[in-house]
Amino acid sequence: MLIDFKQNMGGNILEKLVITGKTPLKGEVVISGAKNAAVAIIPATLLINGICTIDNLPNISDVKLYCDILTELGAKITWNTEHEITVDTRNINSNNIPLETTRKFRASYYLLGALLGRCHSAKVGIPGGCNLGARPIDQHIKTFEALGANVEVSNGNIIAKAKKLKGTSIYMDLVSVGATINAMLAAVLAEGTTIIDNPAKEPHIVDVANFLNTMGADIRGAGTDIIKINGVKELKGNATYSVVPDQIEAGTFMLAAIASKGDITVKNCITKHLESIIAKIVEIGGNVDANGDHLRVWYTKKTHKATIKTLPYPGFPTDLQPQMGVVLSISEGTSIINESIWESRFQYTNELNKMGAKITAQGKTAFFEGVNELTAAPVYATDLRAGAALIIAGIAAKGKTEIYNLNHIDRGYENIEQKFRKLGAKIERVNEE
Ligand code: EPU
Repeated sequence: MLIDFKQNMGGNILEKLVITGKTPLKGEVVISGAKNAAVAIIPATLLINGICTIDNLPNISDVKLYCDILTELGAKITWNTEHEITVDTRNINSNNIPLETTRKFRASYYLLGALLGRCHSAKVGIPGGCNLGARPIDQHIKTFEALGANVEVSNGNIIAKAKKLKGTSIYMDLVSVGATINAMLAAVLAEGTTIIDNPAKEPHIVDVANFLNTMGADIRGAGTDIIKINGVKELKGNATYSVVPDQIEAGTFMLAAIASKGDITVKNCITKHLESIIAKIVEIGGNVDANGDHLRVWYTKKTHKATIKTLPYPGFPTDLQPQMGVVLSISEGTSIINESIWESRFQYTNELNKMGAKITAQGKTAFFEGVNELTAAPVYATDLRAGAALIIAGIAAKGKTEIYNLNHIDRGYENIEQKFRKLGAKIERVNEE
């Protein structure tokens, strides 16, 4: 039964993390480049007819997968270091990525915008990714159509074709990270000016715009309420770009410091991007001292309840909701989290309840009745951020926690157990026969 469950969850049945808990984290952690920026910037290189270098890439499986996809399309990728690649896109010879590849991760949808921009046609399998409930792409399709493409969905593929792409005004019906980035990718080489109204403003939106501008695009206003893109004839490359630090990885370690009753310094982050997390940590009784590119987070007294609603940036990020859920599950009083982005992001609460938490999830709202401590149990990472939350829970809990389905965690966190071990956590990756 256990084996069946693990196989059903798609994980590697032999690997698990074993964490001996109740260790207050102490010391320094250095944050890697942002996953959600990297998985947009790598496909964005398809818009360049030349060579460019990308630095500060996180060393995670989603990045490696994207590099393999670009290689299949005819790009030449050279790994200069563990975190830097040079991409030569002069010989792209395909615009077709099959479903077997795209269903492995969500960010495969960026191939549509990038290939449409470069080749005016793309056949890309429907994207997969973490199971967080329905993940429609109607806003992406609406954008491509507005720019002049014909889009069809058939046999598991999205097929987009355009005689030419022409700048236009696009109003996003809802705030979507993916659709905003895809709109920028498809519009950069379009004829004329494109205006994106009601775009997402996440740090990775700004990062993708900065990358494209470094390569010769003309995008203004990324990070504000209106993005204006003046189409250019070509992107030349010949530049190096460094990916922004990962806001979500930084927030994960900050919340781990509080849950473990620790005192850590988070280095190489942009503290401006972390304001909503800093505000909530301080509100519940934790301590944060932010200094530009690093911050100290420390615990002095028992934290207390809060009410949180996840929102697009600059609101509290859905991608830190499970990690915050761990902190609230051991805080005084009953906390409420309203998840407004994803319909199914409380699956982790079943796992936390196995560790003694008292959480009731009803639809998009969950109630966290604070308990004194969590206790170890075998648990399963149901998605990437759920996996991070379970690691935090394991570090805070009494006893030996085992976490399965590590493939989810490896998609988005670089060297996660090494980074936690450096902070004093007793965490090992072991193979189970
Ligand atoms: N939506 C639509 N139609 C669309 C697009 C989105 O209805 O065409 C809805 C979604 O169903 C969701 C909301 O709009 O309810 C926001 O979705 P968004 O498009 O912003 O999400 P995404 O681009 O698919 C990215 C991140 C997610 C992160 C969300 C929200 C990447 C590769 N993924 O997803 O990251 O949760 O933005 O910030 O950038 C993660 O890293 O763990 C992760 C899931």
